[in-house]
Amino acid sequence: MEVTQPFHAEPFMETIEQTLLEAKTLLSVVTDNPALEARILLAYVLDTPRSYLHASPDVKLSYDQARDFENCLLRRRNNEPIAYITGSREFWSLNLSVTRDTLIPRPETELLVETILATYRHATTPIKVADLGTGSGAIGLAIAHDKPTWQVYATDVSDDALQVARKNARQCALANISFYQGNWCTALPCNGFDVIVSNPPYIAEMEWETYAEGLEFEPRDALVSGLDGLDAIRTISHSAKRYLKSAGVLLVEHGFLQGAQVRKIFAASGYGQIHSIRDLSGQERVTMGQYYP
Ligand SMILES: C[S@@+](CC[C@H](N)C(=O)[O-])C[C@H]1O[C@@H](n2cnc3c(N)ncnc32)[C@H](O)[C@@H]1O
Repeated sequence: MEVTQPFHAEPFMETIEQTLLEAKTLLSVVTDNPALEARILLAYVLDTPRSYLHASPDVKLSYDQARDFENCLLRRRNNEPIAYITGSREFWSLNLSVTRDTLIPRPETELLVETILATYRHATTPIKVADLGTGSGAIGLAIAHDKPTWQVYATDVSDDALQVARKNARQCALANISFYQGNWCTALPCNGFDVIVSNPPYIAEMEWETYAEGLEFEPRDALVSGLDGLDAIRTISHSAKRYLKSAGVLLVEHGFLQGAQVRKIFAASGYGQIHSIRDLSGQERVTMGQYYP
């Protein structure tokens, strides 16, 4: 049930310690980690590092701070993800801005970045990478940050998402990444890529309702892709060949039950060396293939 009333008629100007204690109880309804979330939200409102809360338990909140914190608690109690409330999420140790126009980058997506860096760890020449459906820019920015000599081309169909990704590139002071708006590969300004990577939408339309709890704040077009969830992967697999150089690699993230289907799609598109990679919990999350013309 949506909570619309503030928790107190007037915000209490309590100490940091009292505020955190009360917030922990209120947040325990929506999260398994209420103490951590309370600290993240209070540090955001006070604009301090989390360590300050620990060091200053007796400091009293001002009226404005107490009111702003109440608003954050209200939003979180209504299931809004914490990243949308604070406007940021860490990915590959980069602090990225996120808005309701972008997916919140997930920790499991770091597997794509790890796989690319491991595959090209012995590369002696700079690598040219395309990140399709970049959202907040997470994958492309992580690669551009780790490999300053590589060139990253990031695309998205959403102009609003690209504005966030460009802002993140500026905040991370990265000059080796550029952004293009359009439909998957067709947005790319050139071909001859060593790597094409994507975390595309891969939820089946039928499953959206069952997944929707907690995802309803995120853009549907970033998550849902046709009847079986694989429309975007089919399109990318088919079209990426024309943009890869010989022996170039295509990698996509997918649902943990979609590995076999994605390998089939890659095989039908003519890729070789096709295999799926498991995440830390042992689930197939990434499939890659190599293109030989
Ligand atoms: C699952 S999100 C991934 C975002 C980001 N790469 C990440 O990992 O956090 C999928 C992204 O694909 C974009 N997208 C959806 N349809 C697209 C299309 N036809 N062409 C390009 N991008 C598309 C969405 O706007 C969204 O940003």
